[in-house]
Amino acid sequence: MLKTLWLRLGAFLGKLLLWLVALGLLAWALSSAWYVWQHRGPVSAQELIPDGEAAMTQDVIQTAVRIVDQHRESTRYLRDAHAKAHGCVKAEVQVLAELPSELRQGVFSEPGKTWQATMRLSNGNAYPQFDSIRDARGMAIKLLDVPGKQLLTDQPGRGEQDFVMFSHPNFFVSDVAEYRQNVAAQADGKKIMAFFPGWDPRSWQVRHLFIALATLTPAPPSPTQTTYFSVSPYKFGEANAKFRVMPDPENCPVYSLAEQNRNLPNFLRSALNQQLSTDRVPACFVLQIQRQDANKYMPIEDTSIEWKESDVPFETVARINVPAQDFDTPALNLQCDNQSFNPWFGIEAHRPIGGINRLRKAVYEAVSDYRHARNGGQ
Ligand code: HEM
Repeated sequence: MLKTLWLRLGAFLGKLLLWLVALGLLAWALSSAWYVWQHRGPVSAQELIPDGEAAMTQDVIQTAVRIVDQHRESTRYLRDAHAKAHGCVKAEVQVLAELPSELRQGVFSEPGKTWQATMRLSNGNAYPQFDSIRDARGMAIKLLDVPGKQLLTDQPGRGEQDFVMFSHPNFFVSDVAEYRQNVAAQADGKKIMAFFPGWDPRSWQVRHLFIALATLTPAPPSPTQTTYFSVSPYKFGEANAKFRVMPDPENCPVYSLAEQNRNLPNFLRSALNQQLSTDRVPACFVLQIQRQDANKYMPIEDTSIEWKESDVPFETVARINVPAQDFDTPALNLQCDNQSFNPWFGIEAHRPIGGINRLRKAVYEAVSDYRHARNGGQ
């Protein structure tokens, strides 16, 4: 009797399990189909500015300044993001000599031209921490002596074109509204809960939480050995495009970096120093662009969406050479800290577009002014 009861219970539980698996598979298939349906082209090739963006931007500035205050060092105010530099190095950006005519845009108009540039390599975190901690890594490049009208009309004499990137292709928020909510929660000390703003499951940002986790990666062996993405889109002449900078060791002398001691807090600086200053070996990269095909799902207003390479591949427009040099001196490091990079330092042909870039216009300037004023105007 007891045996039959056990057998029936076993059969019932087995069936229940099968049903649960089948239901789970169905839910997964339906949500995948819904995701593909939601994320399909065509998309707009124009910017679409939502109502209330300007007010939300002001809120973000206040939060950003709060973060700068929270994380100031004993003597200096640091950046709100990418506070820790591995170094600022001199670089040469050479436009490809054989560039097809449709790729000759803005600073890439003249095939073969070499721009002198400054490159700042950084960790993404808002305050300096050990390089071995999972993080995004940043690269900011500033081309110097760029002719033409600057985007920021109050700084006409700047003559720069900046490219500001980090080491992941998409961002953990879609737009300004979500950034405002998420960063305010983070400034209040929330981490994972910043992605769950309320009880309503429709407000839960599970996919974005996974993007945030994937952005925080273990450190590469050196800042010269990882790929950096613009994440957000820019004009590229008449087209819209994202860009990236990728290591290109084939165009540099053969070099194998000695293994660094990852327990040292600043081993990425040591790696850069070892290659450029001690071993006197240059580093090489390619600068590539990916043009928007508005028939594909390549949106302008959602930075959480990676533009797939299978939709449109990246094309190389320039090579970057970082020559052997001594960059790690107190004077050059202070100069590096005092530099400002901003996607809006540039010319019309490379205008930043999309909500997150419109937000960055106000925030970078406000934070840069704030920290410079508190650092004695330096
Ligand atoms: C598209 C995604 C983004 C990328 C690729 C990116 C990348 C970077 C990088 C590499 C830096 C360091 C620049 C340097 O070396 O001086 C930086 C700084 C900074 N970022 Fe972003 N960022 C992004 C989005 C944002 C957003 C949405 C905000 C806030 C609205 C923001 C606020 C800042 C601020 C305030 C600084 C410091 C500016 C300064 O004090 O000079 N970033 N970002």
